[in-house]
Amino acid sequence: MKRIFSGIQPTGNITLGNYLGAIQNCVKLQNEASCDCIFCVVDQHAITVRRNTGALKRSTQETAACLISAGIDPKNSILFNQSQVEEHIKLAWVLGCLTRVGWLNRMIQFKDKVGKSKDNASAGLWCYPILMAADILAYKATHVPVGDDQKQHIELARDIAHSYNFEFGTEFFPLPKAEILSKSFRIMSLCDGRKKMSKSDSSDMSRINITDNVDTIAYKIKKAKTDSYSLPSEASGLTGRAEAQNLITIYAALSNKSLDAAILEYGGCGFGRLKQDLTELAIEVIRPIGLEISRLMSNTDYIDNVLEKGSVRARALSKPIVREVYDTIGFLST
Ligand code: TYM
Repeated sequence: MKRIFSGIQPTGNITLGNYLGAIQNCVKLQNEASCDCIFCVVDQHAITVRRNTGALKRSTQETAACLISAGIDPKNSILFNQSQVEEHIKLAWVLGCLTRVGWLNRMIQFKDKVGKSKDNASAGLWCYPILMAADILAYKATHVPVGDDQKQHIELARDIAHSYNFEFGTEFFPLPKAEILSKSFRIMSLCDGRKKMSKSDSSDMSRINITDNVDTIAYKIKKAKTDSYSLPSEASGLTGRAEAQNLITIYAALSNKSLDAAILEYGGCGFGRLKQDLTELAIEVIRPIGLEISRLMSNTDYIDNVLEKGSVRARALSKPIVREVYDTIGFLST
């Protein structure tokens, strides 16, 4: 039986990138009979960069509401927020002691996020991939649905799991595997096709938020950057045309078509027709989710209750696993 674990940060607007890159796949896996699914709103990860802390609670609730609205069923899957299950942090310390400094220094996302001001970044941001490994390994998860940007972090989680197994001569931790949807592996910014679409981009025009209304979605797609050529009829024609590649990719992902089928459909056309169809499709897919999020957010007691119940279930799974790690290490328990 596959055990699925995935996490999403409550750091503001959930984007179309989050939906197409990861959430959609989580829903699909949840609906497969042979999967046991755990989904986590990773609020402890969200404090690795400075934010308006007053907003964290609401963001956590809204992220949970988004997962439910997109199709995660809290009766079927376990849905909880990280800070309610202390096993993650307890395991992270042990795993941190097995992680080499050089491994963390290789993390591309850390380098991208801190740029030239590495010395001013929080130590939490640097250690972030260790906590992410603990999230996964505290449940002995086997498969991790994520977008392509998280691939390196999952590889690190495998290295850490292997390091633990090797050190203690055991096969205690399975080596987790990233589950990445090839069609929509990385959704890029609407303003710059070489940058990832991100919740934290300073420009709201760079992304489609799941909660955007119809007019905003239409306006953002209308203004999305393009180039002055018509669309190609073959995938090779997208080379060096990041914006065209991105819009076609989004269309293919939203319409559940292959990239090749989408390219064939628009080969030789200008961007106008693609943008018009994309707008209709984006509204059709996203709007019901946005409306359901608003409905759920009008009664946050329901969401708090789901997260509390989910945390109890998550603790029941992770507690014996982390206890066994502590026993193996030799931590005295009275
Ligand atoms: P986060 O919160 O940045 O993103 C949540 C999920 O959305 C995917 N994603 C994208 N996919 C395609 N195109 C994009 N533009 C795009 N933007 C985001 C991410 O790959 C991710 O799957 N470190 C993780 C959260 C995390 C986690 C975990 C994930 C913490 N612990 C354990 C899996 C397992 C993150 O920051 O995701």
